[in-house]
Amino acid sequence: MNVALTINGESTSIDAREGEHLAAALRRNGYTGVKCGCDGGDCGASTILIDDEATMACGMPATDAEGSSIETIAALGTQNDLHPIQQAFVDNFAVQCGFCIPGMILQTKELLDENPDPTEAEVREAIDDIVCRCTGYQKPVEAIMDAAGRMRGERVATDGGSTTSAASRGRMDCCGGVTDE
Ligand code: FES
Repeated sequence: MNVALTINGESTSIDAREGEHLAAALRRNGYTGVKCGCDGGDCGASTILIDDEATMACGMPATDAEGSSIETIAALGTQNDLHPIQQAFVDNFAVQCGFCIPGMILQTKELLDENPDPTEAEVREAIDDIVCRCTGYQKPVEAIMDAAGRMRGERVATDGGSTTSAASRGRMDCCGGVTDE
């Protein structure tokens, strides 16, 4: 069955099998930035943005995505021009195995689009549906707070994961590497 939708700004359609969840259909159609950790909407690895709302793609039938607008991690930065959230995760050493990171970054994007200046408690609440087996969450929380500051124009990246004020540096440094695999 064809499901017509928009993915990362491009009008397209994907093939969906009987009973297939959206994460599996997206991956089978080449959108491998979508991760699949549990197949049941439990671990959060499959989180994508559907009509700007963070949603676990393995928790919904692919056919329910008809007519929606989806953003996967590939909608953010490129390998040579990372989104500030991606850059903050790299600079703060918030990525270990990386499996949860696309979902965590997209969950972060939803948070910062709605609340550009979250408290640490709000950050922790926003990502509490994303299971991270590696980091203990401290580094991702630091990265998200850093990303929020960068996106407000208050902080920019420096070497080694620390940040300085935008005023002291005068520019935003946004280079690095994340792949869609
Ligand atoms: Fe490995 Fe989060 S970095 S699961």
